[in-house]
Order: sequence, then structure tokens, then C-alpha cells
Amino acid sequence: MKVLSVVGARPQLVKLAPVAGALSQAGHRHVIVHTGQHYDADLSDVFFTGLGIPAPEVHLGIGSGSHGVQTGGVLAALDPVLAAERPDWVLVYGDTNSTLAGAVAAVKQQLPVAHLEAGLRSFNRRMPEEHNRVLTDHAADLLLAPTAEAMRHLAAEGLAERSVLVGDVMVDVCLRVRDAVQAERRVPTLPEGIAPDRPYLVATVHRAENTDDPKRLAALADALAALPLPVALLAHPRLLARAREHGVELARGAVRVGRPLPYAELVAAVLGAAGVVTDSGGLQKEAYLLGRPCTTLRPETEWPETLAGGWNALVPDPQLLTAAAWTATAARPAPRQPTAAPYGDGRAAGRVAQVLAEHLRRRELSGTS
Ligand code: UD1
Repeated sequence: MKVLSVVGARPQLVKLAPVAGALSQAGHRHVIVHTGQHYDADLSDVFFTGLGIPAPEVHLGIGSGSHGVQTGGVLAALDPVLAAERPDWVLVYGDTNSTLAGAVAAVKQQLPVAHLEAGLRSFNRRMPEEHNRVLTDHAADLLLAPTAEAMRHLAAEGLAERSVLVGDVMVDVCLRVRDAVQAERRVPTLPEGIAPDRPYLVATVHRAENTDDPKRLAALADALAALPLPVALLAHPRLLARAREHGVELARGAVRVGRPLPYAELVAAVLGAAGVVTDSGGLQKEAYLLGRPCTTLRPETEWPETLAGGWNALVPDPQLLTAAAWTATAARPAPRQPTAAPYGDGRAAGRVAQVLAEHLRRRELSGTS
């Protein structure tokens, strides 16, 4: 079986790592195409080296741009690559512009598409990721869902027949890296001024809904600065760019600004932290898997399982402005009850490889290949 993965942004590289491992272990041919949506070493290269992912065979070098320019750029650049490779599956990951472009490019060439992390919904149509997810799910031939909740969303949209529950591949990588980090007693690398042996919080902010509105960004920066514990703000380039544009000072009060971390460093930082404050979907789940309380800077989450037992708390816009409520939420202790395992058993990537091979066999037997 020949699988062609289209990836381009940081969270996709994390998901790619276990999938690449499982495909290679099962002896399948795997072509990795990097769209170039993320091009900073901090957001891309360190994931290939750190997670042992083979270098991409093709790099489209698309870079940043408006949604249309970026999505269209990937779409056009993929055409000759797909035509030359003719894989058995085009595999797309998550909800970025690279995901949607990969799915559309493949269906236009009548190549079968599988969507990994299918069925997530925020039901917030103002998020670019929500359009990307919905459109990709409806274009794809095979929907690989991480949770029972995602399967329900797909069924509600009439997509049950194409859907398979495989579990979450991020569990595979997160638990493996956690074990390695703990075995080597890795001391987290934190921004200057934060001591790893004293209580601190890890924070990230990168979503357009939070960074692109100057008032909301200023309110967020004020709220982070007022927290009672030191805050390691691992700043995505979009956050730095918008803060500069809007004249918002990030490094003040409790906040120390650092660069985004390679995956193992991030896991070490979260393991050492008292809690996490973020608008990232992946980090909400990593906090949950690593047993650290998370506060999510959004009115909704695609990972509602993390809310059970108080492990994750949503902070919608208006509450941000009431400093006392905000502070108490973000600096709360970890809940007592153990976390459940709604994201699977850490063996999702093997299942992905298996399901892709099975569906290919079925296609060949029915003569539709
Ligand atoms: C993208 C995804 C988002 C995902 C995030 C993970 C979409 C619509 N959004 O958001 O779902 O959670 O990746 O990080 O696809 N930039 C750099 N260097 C880079 C990449 C980006 O400086 O390597 C800056 C540029 O100013 C760019 C901005 O960040 O315009 C936004 O980058 P982009 O890839 O468009 O979206 P993200 O915010 O990273």
C-alpha cells in the first residue's frame, strides 16, 4: 500500500510521527509531502528531528498568506505531485488550511482520501479550523475518528458509513515521550526568570480569534500578567506579530516570554508545571493526558472529554475581564479524581495503518480501485 501524507503545520507533525512509524513497521510505502505552511524551525524542523520522522520527500514551500492564497497555493502545488505519485491513499490530518487543500486536491484527481482526526466540531463557524474540518470530512472517503463523540458528530451529518473509530494518535506520541522524559529526568527549559523547581504555569496563545482582535488580545495579556504564578508564555510567531502590530506588551507582570518548544521539551515543561493556560486543542489534551489542570481561553472546545472532573475549564470572553474569577480558575489545583481514557489506549496509529490497508483491500475486491 502506498500512502501519501499531506502535512504543513506543527500539530500535524506531532500526529504524523506515530503514523509514519506504524506505516513503516507494517511495510507500507509512505510519501510525506510538507506544504510549507509552517516554515520556522521552531514550528517545523524540530519536530522532524525530535520525533524521528523521516524527512519529507516533497516540500511545496507555500509559506504564509491569507486563507485563500495559502489554501489555493497548496491546492495548485499538490496537483503535479499527486498526479506523479498516484497513491492508494492521500492522508490528511486535523483542521488546517493544508488539510483542506490536501483533501480537495485529492478528490479532484479521484484519489481516495482519508481524514485523520475526523469528526471534531466546535460548532463555531467563525473559526477557520471549523470550516476546514467540516469541508474535509464531507470530501473524504474514510473518516478516522479519535473519539466516540467525534463518531456521533459524523453520524449526525450522515457520514456514519465512512467513519471508523481508531482512537487518538496524539495519545501514542504523548505517552511515549512522557515515559522517555521521565526516564531521563529531563529538566524543563523555561523562559529566563522562571525556576523549574518552583510552581509555574505554561501558557500558549495563537488562535486568530484571540490574537487578531486588539481588544481581546490586550485583555488576555492583562489577565496573564495578573496571574499569581510565574507564566511561561511559549509564543507562537502569530502572537508575537499581532502583539507588535497592536502595541500590546506581553512580557510583564507574571509573564516571561519564550519560544515555542520542541515536543519533548513541551512535555517536560507541562509535567513540571502547576497547570496550563492555552487556546491550543493539542495542548488541552496533552495537559489532560499528563495530569495537569488546563484553562482554555475559548468559549468552546473540540475536546469536551477534558472538561469532565474539572481537568479543563473554559474561559469565555466576558469572564476574562473579571480578574478574580480568572485568577482562581487558572491557578486552581489539580482535581483529585483520576482521568478516564476517552482518547484510546495509545495504539491508534497501528489501527490507522490497519484500517487503511483493509479498506484498500475491500476497494480492490469490489473492483473500484
Ligand atoms: C495554523 C492552523 C491552526 C493550528 C496552528 C498550529 C489554519 C487555518 N490554522 O495556525 O489550526 O492550530 O497552525 O500552530 O491552518 N508564521 C510564522 N512562521 C511560521 C508559520 C507562521 O512566522 O512558520 C506566522 C505568519 O505571520 C503567519 C501567521 O504566523 O501569517 C499564521 O500562520 P498560519 O500558518 O497561517 O496559521 P497558524 O496561526 O499557525
